[in-house]
Amino acid sequence: MTTTELNQRDWVSLEQKYYQGTFKRHPITLVRGEGTRVWDSEGKSYLDFVAGIAVNVLGHCHPAVVEAVQQQVTQLVHVSNLYYNVRQIELAELLGIQSDGMRSFFSNSGAEANEGAFKLARKYGRLHRNGAYEIISMENSFHGRTMATTAATGQPAYQATWAPLPDGFKQVPFNDLEAVKKATSDKTAAILVEAVQGEGGIWPASQEFMQGLRDWCDEQNLVLICDEVQAGSGRTGKFFSWQHYVRPDIVTLAKGLAGGVPIGAMLTDPRTDIFVPGDHGTTFGGNPIACAAGIATIKTITEQNLLDNATQMGEYWKEKLEQLCAKYPFIDSPRGIGLMRAVNVKHGLGPVIVQKAMEHGLLLNSTNPQTLRMIPPLILTTADIDEATQILDATLAEVANLPAAQA
Ligand SMILES: Cc1ncc(COP(=O)(O)O)c(C=O)c1O
Repeated sequence: MTTTELNQRDWVSLEQKYYQGTFKRHPITLVRGEGTRVWDSEGKSYLDFVAGIAVNVLGHCHPAVVEAVQQQVTQLVHVSNLYYNVRQIELAELLGIQSDGMRSFFSNSGAEANEGAFKLARKYGRLHRNGAYEIISMENSFHGRTMATTAATGQPAYQATWAPLPDGFKQVPFNDLEAVKKATSDKTAAILVEAVQGEGGIWPASQEFMQGLRDWCDEQNLVLICDEVQAGSGRTGKFFSWQHYVRPDIVTLAKGLAGGVPIGAMLTDPRTDIFVPGDHGTTFGGNPIACAAGIATIKTITEQNLLDNATQMGEYWKEKLEQLCAKYPFIDSPRGIGLMRAVNVKHGLGPVIVQKAMEHGLLLNSTNPQTLRMIPPLILTTADIDEATQILDATLAEVANLPAAQA
């Protein structure tokens, strides 16, 4: 569609009329993307440090993903899981290599991947821990929007309206091993953790905590589940964020796994690999198009050394963020791993900074008014970072003049 054609319709009012009010949208309509950039319906371009909330790991419309989808769509769009599916097996093989031996189950989203993990953990508890079913997760975590993943999410704001939530979930403070031990009972089947909390504001777990969880799970015969939906697929500079820490029993992935095409995955080590036919299933999960995109994404990450790039660009971006934090007193605590970064924002100025940065051509996101999150594509270059730094600097200079910033 041309800009003129696009502007013949008022997308904002049409959305209000026809789409449910679930999203608080920014007032732009994105129509095209290429690499680290997107364009809106007015033709304005933005450097994209949101990347579909950690989805577009290869940037927008990466040629490898485009070609894989184009080829697949002419061969086989969908086939039931009643039959073998070449692309599904190939993607599972690549994940088996990345994870050093885990087997996969594919779904369509992160929440669904976690649902599969919860079922697997409950089956393990039933078979190997006297019927234990409870899952201990962390405060400030996020695991999805289905009823069970909402019950697992450690943020009361996401839970309040939907009570009663499914039974068998409890939360303890993140990075507090003693709290986990205290909360463990003969009902406990599993511990669920994000090695780097994403929606919670980019908080990495400590080494001691993750090692402590692994040891505790081994000692108590519990299942350790790592939710890699946001931190996985290379974002932290390793394919899985647990590779910075310890090996879990079950891993969930989604977001970046197929470079922008919807997919979820639940991987398990042999000890917990106990589903049998009939236990679990899906119509669309492992769809040939999603898997072809996933194969292209993993191959590109490997062949183009994008894990190393994420590490190097992450360090460069961290330096820039540290400099900006030193210059502007209302932002501090730069943190994160690889290309999963955030800073704290005082006086609840997060949304104002996001809005002004957008006006200057940089897309950022605030997980809450006190946190500015940056999760750009793994193909990021130093030139992109220099440009983002310049825009953010100009944005922060403007915000510094607001009365709220001087409070
Ligand atoms: C860590 C984590 N787990 C699960 C989810 C849910 O994924 P989805 O929105 O694909 O269901 C998210 C989404 O933000 C997430 O960040």
